[in-house]
Amino acid sequence: MHPPAPRSVRHAALRLLAGSTGSKGSSPPRRLPCRAQVLLEPQRSALPGTPITAPAGASNRRFEGELLGFSLTQAPWRQRSADITQYHCAMPLKHLTLLTGASRGMGLAMAQQLLRHGHTLVCISRHRNAELAQAASQAGTTLEQWEQDLSRGEQAARALRDWLTTQGPAAFASATLINNAGVIPRIAPLSASEPADLANALRVGLEAPMLLTAAFLGATEGWAVPRKVLNISSGLGRRALASQAAYCAAKAGMDHFTRCVALDEAIKPHGARVCSLAPGVIDTDMQIQLRGADPAAFPDRQNFARLKTAGQLTSPADAATRVLAWLERADFGTNPVADVREV
Ligand SMILES: NC(=O)c1ccc[n+]([C@@H]2O[C@H](COP(=O)([O-])OP(=O)(O)OC[C@H]3O[C@@H](n4cnc5c(N)ncnc54)[C@H](OP(=O)(O)O)[C@@H]3O)[C@@H](O)[C@H]2O)c1
Repeated sequence: MHPPAPRSVRHAALRLLAGSTGSKGSSPPRRLPCRAQVLLEPQRSALPGTPITAPAGASNRRFEGELLGFSLTQAPWRQRSADITQYHCAMPLKHLTLLTGASRGMGLAMAQQLLRHGHTLVCISRHRNAELAQAASQAGTTLEQWEQDLSRGEQAARALRDWLTTQGPAAFASATLINNAGVIPRIAPLSASEPADLANALRVGLEAPMLLTAAFLGATEGWAVPRKVLNISSGLGRRALASQAAYCAAKAGMDHFTRCVALDEAIKPHGARVCSLAPGVIDTDMQIQLRGADPAAFPDRQNFARLKTAGQLTSPADAATRVLAWLERADFGTNPVADVREV
């Protein structure tokens, strides 16, 4: 037995349908184990299998909502009405996750864990991951991998906005954006850094997450489903490190724009929940880069080397599990800047 639609949705749907069919007083429609999208438009000739139409002369009206619990085919009032000519009804909706930097490291581990029943996963990195594609087809999960350089944030944001708009507000049961991609620029004091390298770290680590967040929140603004943005930050956004000014600044900027967005969303009736989360210290390429730095240019190199030898790095899989568990917390977003190591 499936739960009925929320009262407001149910009443709105019934009122619109009753108004269009003159079916007042007819028997209540029966339950249907799926969600449906209903479109009310001026009448057209009967075409089975596509959205509902309203009577001739009605203004162009569109109702989209979860009609969970209603049968449009079996409802008696439908059979008496020549006006309802079309409907469509989909399988139970999936949860959408958009994830950047899923080709390797913690992002890949998160993607692997998100390949579960009832999820649609869209990954955005410069490279596709063939094993992930294979795992998705074995799991029967919908996976898209977009090859996109996130140093071109405007292009990525436009692609994301267009894709979400095409999906429409009734396509998913929830929508989540995880901004995980990040880069460490060449490890050197700012004075010895290349402008292109600094710009790339800031574009991938700060500009792209902000533009993608804007595109995601803008395109899904009217979606009546739970929406979340999880920005993968770092302890280094909160603690300064020599020879990593661009990385630290990108993460500090990410924390602060997340605080601002939390305020934006808090005053909306269906605002998204957002969090900038430090994921701990993880055994990935990024740590290899830090341990492999020139000691003369990086005073902290020994500390990072010690983390590895002392076995203090979290595996990508464990880090991904903790981050995804944070995303599922009932209080997700209550604190817009958090650390996965907090209890
Ligand atoms: N590892 C740690 O100890 C640690 C600690 C704190 C925070 N973090 C944060 O956690 C996140 C994941 O880190 P990680 O260690 O898993 O990193 P990683 O192993 O270096 O992987 C980085 C990911 O970002 C993607 N990426 C890099 N440049 C890109 C670009 N220009 N366009 C699109 N995608 C790009 C990479 O994909 P492609 O190369 O295919 O593009 C890759 O999938 C990052 O935000 C990092 O700052 C890591």
